[in-house]
Amino acid sequence: MARINDNYLKLKAGYLFPEIARRVNAFAQANPEAKIIRLGIGDVTEPLPQACRDAMVQAIEDMGDRGSFKGYGPEQGYEWLREKIAQQDFQSRGCEIDASEIFISDGSKCDCGNILDIFGDDNSIAVTDPVYPVYVDTNVMAGHTGEVNDKGEYGGLVYLPISADNGFTAEIPNYKVDLIYLCFPNNPTGATATKEHLQAWVNYARTHGSIILFDAAYEAFIQDPSLPHSIFEIEGARDCAIEFRSFSKNAGFTGTRCAFTVVPKSLKGQTKDGQTVELWGLWNRRQSTKFNGVSYIVQRGAEAVYSPEGRSQTQALISFYMENARIIREQLTAAGIQVYGGENAPYVWVKTPNGLSSWDFFDKLLQTCNVVGTPGSGFGAAGEGYFRISAFNSRANVEEAMKRITEKFKV
Ligand code: MLT
Repeated sequence: MARINDNYLKLKAGYLFPEIARRVNAFAQANPEAKIIRLGIGDVTEPLPQACRDAMVQAIEDMGDRGSFKGYGPEQGYEWLREKIAQQDFQSRGCEIDASEIFISDGSKCDCGNILDIFGDDNSIAVTDPVYPVYVDTNVMAGHTGEVNDKGEYGGLVYLPISADNGFTAEIPNYKVDLIYLCFPNNPTGATATKEHLQAWVNYARTHGSIILFDAAYEAFIQDPSLPHSIFEIEGARDCAIEFRSFSKNAGFTGTRCAFTVVPKSLKGQTKDGQTVELWGLWNRRQSTKFNGVSYIVQRGAEAVYSPEGRSQTQALISFYMENARIIREQLTAAGIQVYGGENAPYVWVKTPNGLSSWDFFDKLLQTCNVVGTPGSGFGAAGEGYFRISAFNSRANVEEAMKRITEKFKV
């Protein structure tokens, strides 16, 4: 019989969001009359911006004409999109990023996992706790960890706890770690990092020859102008960081699929025998071999995000979801529930009322309020006793969910 990848058997039963969906579906089947409101997975609900739709309709027409038809595109993405990203997302903020350092993809989740292809198996790896589970699970699948313990921690990973005590920003270790995953604005806690905090990480990484895998999928939700949107706003980051970005949350592309990864050409790693190698070349080779690029139609849709209309329409979407976040924060706070995040991120991180465990609160909320959220412990051991509420839903659903929760759980 063919051998399997045994590492998959180390994974906890299911990926967090399918497990939530399983519980919600079971409840919905048993209670068909329940009007369930889903504030669990961070999936957008509002329609695609008009500018993106118009651009995609035009792109479909292009595909219907022999003169403008496109076959395989560049694996790295079309230059007209990469140029706009480089100018508007990076150079306009003073980041020295060139279009050739941008790789268009079909999602940040995929990129966060795929990036491990270009790294060795013997790196020490740090994640925050709680953390977006993809960083952990993809390392388990790749054989970079030991077994899981009762708390859900995998042997071999370095867990950096984040909590209200440290403002949900990890203390920088005083020992060497090779790969560090950082996510700001943070999923799940909604916390942000100042320039000073990121500068300390960059200094650490440069001192130790580490690489920061920086997930900025939620940067568009930053409201505070003093906060950095990109790790490349930080001096020295070109030598120690890779950044992941996405059109999923700012432009509503969760179902359309478009994202990108920035790999600076100055970023280097080491071979087993100590030779220095540019990571850009490895990622370019990986993408050219295992990926055929994002469809022309979708890339035209993403390009429209950078048009004047696209910019104002995506800004309106962000403002809409951030108003939802404000409503969630304010109503829960008024009901005496402790909340964090939600000011520069579409996630509100809630201390579970009455000392309930994360999953107990999940079940109670589902059963008594018919509202779905995400149990904090699903993001790591240190998330126990917390609960994530997503601001991605209609205004009516958010208001109704808050009414139901505050009536039941007022403390
Ligand atoms: C989440 O809810 O954490 C996100 O939807 C996950 C993702 O973007 O993959």
